[in-house]
Amino acid sequence: MARILVVNGPNLDLLGKRQPEIYGRRTLKDLESDLTAEAVHLGHDVTFFQSNDESQLVEFVRIEAPASAGVIINAGALSHYSQALAEALKESGVRAIEVHISNVFARESFRHISVISPVCVGQVVGLGLDGYRLALRWFAGHISG
Ligand code: DQA
Repeated sequence: MARILVVNGPNLDLLGKRQPEIYGRRTLKDLESDLTAEAVHLGHDVTFFQSNDESQLVEFVRIEAPASAGVIINAGALSHYSQALAEALKESGVRAIEVHISNVFARESFRHISVISPVCVGQVVGLGLDGYRLALRWFAGHISG
């Protein structure tokens, strides 16, 4: 059984209430219970963390990522400028998949750049909350134990 981290950044605690036409009506709690069920089905373990604070996200990645088999990360707006979070992920040496619920490329141009992307093995963008489940499945197929 491997441990996968699911890290959500600023304002993702507002899922369900925040711009539902873009992010949908399901809450962060709904997402976490769906992913827990999927992880049980796949024989793995998920640990969730959400923060609105960049330094807490950096600390979490620094402490927890090295002891995990993979990181699924939606850094929210920090994706577009947090070199600190990108560097923490890179330093952890752990594979990460970047998820965006919305199709960031169909939105404002500041969302077209992600400083997190280069330190990730891949991205799932624009597929709603399903993106997290797809990322989890990828890890399940690419880790042993
Ligand atoms: C987001 C896209 C970001 O541009 C935005 O700041 C978010 C959510 C997404 O999941 O689509 O907070 O990461």
